Amino acid sequence: MMVESMSQRSQRVWLITGCSSGFGKIFVSAILAWGDRVIATARDISTLSNFAHCDDVELLELDITDSQHVLNDKVSKAIAMFGQIDVLVNNAGYVLSGVLEELSQPQILDQFNTNVFGPLNLTRAVLPHMRSRQSGTIIFMSSIAAWKGVAIGGPYSASKFALEGFVESLQKEVAPLGVNLHLAVLAQFRTDILSAQRRQSGRGVNSIRDYDAAVDAFQSRLEQTNGKQPGDPIQAVERIMDLVYRRGYFADQRELPLRIVLGSDAVEIVRDECQQMLDDLKKQEQFGTSTDYPSRGEVEKYE
Ligand SMILES: NC(=O)c1ccc[n+]([C@@H]2O[C@H](COP(=O)([O-])OP(=O)(O)OC[C@H]3O[C@@H](n4cnc5c(N)ncnc54)[C@H](OP(=O)(O)O)[C@@H]3O)[C@@H](O)[C@H]2O)c1
Ligand SMILES: *[C@@H]1O[C@H](CO)[C@@H](O)[C@H](O)[C@H]1NC(C)=O
Repeated sequence: MMVESMSQRSQRVWLITGCSSGFGKIFVSAILAWGDRVIATARDISTLSNFAHCDDVELLELDITDSQHVLNDKVSKAIAMFGQIDVLVNNAGYVLSGVLEELSQPQILDQFNTNVFGPLNLTRAVLPHMRSRQSGTIIFMSSIAAWKGVAIGGPYSASKFALEGFVESLQKEVAPLGVNLHLAVLAQFRTDILSAQRRQSGRGVNSIRDYDAAVDAFQSRLEQTNGKQPGDPIQAVERIMDLVYRRGYFADQRELPLRIVLGSDAVEIVRDECQQMLDDLKKQEQFGTSTDYPSRGEVEKYE
């Protein structure tokens, strides 16, 4: 596919959640630099004042945990701003860590509301528009946490696992209708996500001594990683834009993958997890296939 020059191509309109910080903020700048239009959203719209005077930006207050009908209204407003939405980036999210026995159910639910149900609700609000145009791209920000569970990392991992599971299914539902879904599986990137103000932990009054050492070690690891993550978020945003615009690496790819894996630690983790599973499966193969009825019925493959 040829790379189109700016005058040849029509401008695309992006809608991005969580633009007050990190990846969201970087997306807005990168899209403007590329010459496209963007609806930048945040819970607190005053955090977007940097962008207030750009012609190609509209600002919209949006909390992804709002109810479905509020999100539907926001999406109608967003569509009216530039007449369409071509790309939605479900970016907003945060990290909750902690051990199951110490976390409260409301804390876990809040993690899922923000990282899973919010993005799915917003996607539900945008899909009718994209289906009617038989065109659109939706990006979901996933993580190595969706590929590897680590001690004390349960809530965030569970939320990203759940997100990937739903998106993998949804992709197969909407791809035949012209809507492309993608998961960006991100390593550790240098945003504010691990700052003390942003990351949340489930250690409260009910801390259990048995977990002290593990929790302390995990928390101090996050603290030490904050600001020193190996991944450059500006580069990650450019790679995601390569996918959306089919430029760079994707310029001559016939099919776009559901997942792109970004950051060398992410490439390593996904590879190691797959290898580990293959190794386990090989050892267990006879064991695992021993549970069928002797005369195995003919059913269609699960797909
Ligand atoms: N950085 C990494 O290493 C990394 C790795 C894997 C995946 N990710 C994913 O990348 C995405 C962006 O993270 P980031 O690294 O850019 O972190 P960040 O700098 O902390 O930014 C997170 C953004 O999400 C917003 N947000 C949180 N809850 C929200 C809600 N209910 N409604 C609307 N916005 C909300 C925050 O807004 P407020 O300012 O209002 O809080 C903020 O703008 C997240 O989904 C994260 O899980 C990041
Ligand atoms: C998502 O939409 C459902 C209704 O479809 C609503 O019950 C829920 O509160 C919404 N938001 C979240 C974060 O779950």
